[in-house]
Amino acid sequence: MRRLEGKVAIITGAGNGQGAFEAKLFAKEGASVVVTDIDFESASQIVRDIENNHGKAIAVHHDISSELDWIKVVEKTIETFGKIDILVNNAGIHMESAMSEITLAEWSKMIEINLTGTFIGMQTIIPSMKKNGGGSIVNIASIAALRGGSFAHYSAAKGGVRSLSKTAAIEYARDNIRVNSVYPGLIMTALVTEALENEVTRKNLMEQLPLQRFGKVEDVGYGVLYLASDESSFVTGAELVIDGGTMAGARLTE
Ligand SMILES: NC(=O)c1ccc[n+]([C@@H]2O[C@H](COP(=O)([O-])OP(=O)(O)OC[C@H]3O[C@@H](n4cnc5c(N)ncnc54)[C@H](O)[C@@H]3O)[C@@H](O)[C@H]2O)c1
Repeated sequence: MRRLEGKVAIITGAGNGQGAFEAKLFAKEGASVVVTDIDFESASQIVRDIENNHGKAIAVHHDISSELDWIKVVEKTIETFGKIDILVNNAGIHMESAMSEITLAEWSKMIEINLTGTFIGMQTIIPSMKKNGGGSIVNIASIAALRGGSFAHYSAAKGGVRSLSKTAAIEYARDNIRVNSVYPGLIMTALVTEALENEVTRKNLMEQLPLQRFGKVEDVGYGVLYLASDESSFVTGAELVIDGGTMAGARLTE
């Protein structure tokens, strides 16, 4: 028995990076996957990869900050696969800027995509999950939600995802809908390419990593798979930190 046999999963931002790995992993584990992304070309490529490996998937063009797009995603999913069991709110953006230099337009864009997108997603999909007798929602936050040292708008948005996830977990527990959140540390994807190009930043980041390596999409993907699957049926409102030990602290002695 595969770990997601018979499940229908929507993964946002699944055209690239962590979401793309999760889409392929979920399909391998037996789920029918709705691969959504604002980058439709990449989403379509992931669907072709899944189909070439005998999996089931469709691609949907989706801007997570648009309520109308979310309604279309739900309609398309129900029309194609008949139900929704899993939602992974993975899509996100990252911008580097000192707090004093963040414009209001940049602040609003960050909040709209990284926080409001997750809110609309849950609000739009929960009625279908209720009808289906339950579901599992996994919201991708960041260790930037748990401590300072990142960029103000990104941290604030991800901190919002953290409290939103717990609120939803409590509100929908009696509907058998579980809501958990994941806190990746530095994972090597396009999102952080620019930061890693800077030698000093690279060195500083490595110094904060007890396991002495940057993360891979697989490191997060298997955690998300656990929370999405029925193996975690007693887990809701939880926080899964996947960060090579960064949040545990730094060594004080050699
Ligand atoms: N990479 C890291 O170090 C890291 C660390 C902590 C948290 N995260 C979080 O993990 C998640 C996945 O990031 P990733 O590292 O795979 O980055 P990525 O840039 O490789 O992938 C992000 C995907 O989201 C899509 N996207 C962007 N804006 C969108 C929108 N408005 N609507 C729909 N799709 C949109 C992009 O097209 C892309 O396919 C994000 O929420 C990110 O904040 C990443």
